[in-house]
Amino acid sequence: MQQPPVAHVEWSSRLAFILAASGSAVGLGNIWKFPYMAGENGGGAFVLVYLLCVLAVGVPIMIAEILIGRRARLNPMDAMGTLAAQHGRSGVWRWVGLAGVIAGVLIMSYYSVITGWTVAYIGKSVSGAFNGISGPQAQAVFEDFISDPLDLLLWHTLVLAVVLGIAARGVAGGIERAVQWLMPGLLVLLVALVCYGAATGGMGAAARFLFTPDFAALDGQTVLAAMGQAFFSLSLGMGAIMMYGSYLPRQAPIGRSALIIAALDSGVAIVAGLAIFPIVFGNGMAPGEGPGLVFVTLPVGFGQLPAGGLFAGLFFLLLLFAALTSAVSLIEPGLAYLTERTGRSRGQAVAIMGSAIWLLGIGTVLSFNVWSTPWLAGRTFFDAVDYLTSNLMLPLGGLAVALFAGWALPRLATDDELQLDTPRLRRYWRLLCRWVAPAAVVLVFLHAIGLLG
Ligand code: PHE
Repeated sequence: MQQPPVAHVEWSSRLAFILAASGSAVGLGNIWKFPYMAGENGGGAFVLVYLLCVLAVGVPIMIAEILIGRRARLNPMDAMGTLAAQHGRSGVWRWVGLAGVIAGVLIMSYYSVITGWTVAYIGKSVSGAFNGISGPQAQAVFEDFISDPLDLLLWHTLVLAVVLGIAARGVAGGIERAVQWLMPGLLVLLVALVCYGAATGGMGAAARFLFTPDFAALDGQTVLAAMGQAFFSLSLGMGAIMMYGSYLPRQAPIGRSALIIAALDSGVAIVAGLAIFPIVFGNGMAPGEGPGLVFVTLPVGFGQLPAGGLFAGLFFLLLLFAALTSAVSLIEPGLAYLTERTGRSRGQAVAIMGSAIWLLGIGTVLSFNVWSTPWLAGRTFFDAVDYLTSNLMLPLGGLAVALFAGWALPRLATDDELQLDTPRLRRYWRLLCRWVAPAAVVLVFLHAIGLLG
């Protein structure tokens, strides 16, 4: 008997969609990357520009993705292809969807490795490895940890197995069930950590740092960095949100849902900052620590505080929850593509995607130890994959989606999908999607390939 196409599945409710999509958005990007980017880029000014980008670029592209997905109810490649054919547009649009599927595999290959670090750090924290530790000692623990390829490979394998296990159970039984537990758990952990941060002092300094814009710190670089971050953090440009939109029931308003998801995503990023910077400032450490902020600075900070090991463990658990709900969305377009296009079962699709991701992940594992020599244009394998996806594929994918929804689809079709939203929202969306978002993304892209310095 023929299996029903996966995309005909629906979320059990609009809330389930919002949990899943905000689970996709909230990830390593918010809790690990956002604080260190804000720290490196001067704090308040970066945060302000980031929020503007979320509203002016992120939200319109998110609406476009959900709209395309729900209208076609197919994987990203066939969604774009089918809608293009329906409206007499070029078949070339479908390659945008395929590029997204590939970007998902590439991102997942390192996402799984980094998520593995957070699992390892839960164990280290709880076992008291960070009690009273100094900065150089924490640095040494981190370097020691990433220098062992077998250890990293083990964590990568474990995380990938869990993610594939969730994905194999399908949209309703796997993803929906997982986000129902993980998202509320994440919120509780986050609130607990903020209270802890407040209780240990330094919250005032953290809030001042995040909310006082120093416009002198604002240059072209900062603006572009903030926009790139908005993009990655909202899971846009590779079809994850499009895929989730394809499971959205007809009677759910798209625009309002996107606004809620974006608000949750930015909210978690800011609250994560409010949880992290008190520890940084409370211990007289520098905010511009870079990517090591979470894995080096935080253990030092927590290690000085009462019950710090437990709270550090909770912090990395939070990071793990956030990463898992993003990871399932990274592979969903690929799974749907394989099942719908090639008629494979979901189990077979999981096996194929899993093998490809696992193998590619080895490249990232080795990038931190035996293969750390720059290999492609001065980059390690990990850096190259990150650059290719975040700086090239996502902005280009997002641009294409905005152009497709804003120009290739007739207004009648988009208005029909957005009919549950207010006329004003529809008007704003159209303006932003046709003009503002594409122009802004072009700037990011030119920056990414180095034309804007
Ligand atoms: N938004 C996720 C994060 O912030 C990453 C992600 C990107 C997930 C693209 C899906 C698609 O970590």
